[in-house]
Amino acid sequence: MSVESTVRPVTTLRLTEMKQRGEKIAMLTSYDFSMAKIVDNAGIDVILVGDSAANVMAGYESTLPITLDAMIYHARSVVRAVKRALVVVDLPFGTYQGNSKTALDSAIRIMKETEADAIKMEGGEEILESVQRILSAGIPVMGHLGLTPQSIHKFGTYSVRAKEEAEAEKLVRDAHLLEEAGCFAVVLEKIPAALATRVSQELTIPTIGIGAGAGCDGQVLVIHDMLGINKGFSPRFLRRYADLHTVMTDAVSQYVEDVKSLDFPNEKEQY
Ligand code: KIV
Repeated sequence: MSVESTVRPVTTLRLTEMKQRGEKIAMLTSYDFSMAKIVDNAGIDVILVGDSAANVMAGYESTLPITLDAMIYHARSVVRAVKRALVVVDLPFGTYQGNSKTALDSAIRIMKETEADAIKMEGGEEILESVQRILSAGIPVMGHLGLTPQSIHKFGTYSVRAKEEAEAEKLVRDAHLLEEAGCFAVVLEKIPAALATRVSQELTIPTIGIGAGAGCDGQVLVIHDMLGINKGFSPRFLRRYADLHTVMTDAVSQYVEDVKSLDFPNEKEQY
């Protein structure tokens, strides 16, 4: 039996089972084939083709400008690389808010044109109709509550959300609404750890935290941040597992030096 045929792909059902037996879920973003191949081979459970691609791949200040076509391009590249992880794709800003028919059309394009496993949407009650319509088409949906970067112009800041009781209670209600609608998981971004623990205990679907503490059922980070490629972003929740910015800068500087000094290519590196 080949190694490939022994791979058991991660499904939404397996994520629920992981929560039930207390196994934490590891999720990271990826936006291209080569990175996704490394991340998948290293044993990640879920790959998010996040709209953070707008920031780390395209250099925009916010996630708002990325288009559905661009998300489909990134998601296709990732799906081609992945053998095991569940691939979730963000519906970008403007493709689902306020119109459930548009939302369904956007989700169908993602599923048809990328062959990803699921989509993710930011918001609670205000997008519930869109969530329900997409779910009724058989498309798995991951929710996203707390800091929702697509609403940055409404909030005006990327600071911790739901510190006040009213916002915290709305978040708990929204989490239950998403679970009752049929979402298979929910991302909790940048909220107090105690609140994230409460939501994780009340829900039967897994919560995936980013800046939401250890009480969540899983964790997610942006791959460029955790690998230290992107040095300009240092929130308290971010653990850097490598310093690729330095490794890559040193490698490129060395290459420049070697080309200029005629050290590269040498005799063995030519035909
Ligand atoms: O777009 C993204 O990368 C995300 C994660 C930060 C959860 O939504």
